[in-house]
Amino acid sequence: MSSSQTYSRLTEEVLEQHRQIHFYLDQIVAAVNGLREDAEDTEPMRTLAAQIESFRERLVEHQHGEEHGGLFAALLEELPEARQEVSALRLDHQRMVEILELARLHAQHGQPGEAHDLKVDLEGFLGTMREHERAEESLLARAMALARS
Ligand SMILES: [Fe+2]
Ligand SMILES: [Fe+2]
Repeated sequence: MSSSQTYSRLTEEVLEQHRQIHFYLDQIVAAVNGLREDAEDTEPMRTLAAQIESFRERLVEHQHGEEHGGLFAALLEELPEARQEVSALRLDHQRMVEILELARLHAQHGQPGEAHDLKVDLEGFLGTMREHERAEESLLARAMALARS
């Protein structure tokens, strides 16, 4: 496979996984927005905790694929000058999993009145994740352009 084909395949895989991750994340955001602070029932919070946990597992799998399945290695091969950016992406991975873990604990043990705090945690996560994916996608585009030239 030529390196340009390799980058096309990687780009397709990464974009598809990012789409799937966003799909799950949208469902979580909708669930968080549906929480009522004046509710007595803690069940919706606990359900949300389970949703966050399964999302976290998916995300860890995605990140593992990026770190060990070829994306980061391919980026470094084509763009050795992007070493720092790739290291920053790796650090983001840890940070994103930590934020999600905090949000999960919050949902697992929180009372309905804490729904707002949980929203803030998840908004922070969303911001980090969007920036992270944008950075990955733009590095990939750069690498692909080079591989084609
Ligand atoms: Fe990533
Ligand atoms: Fe990613």
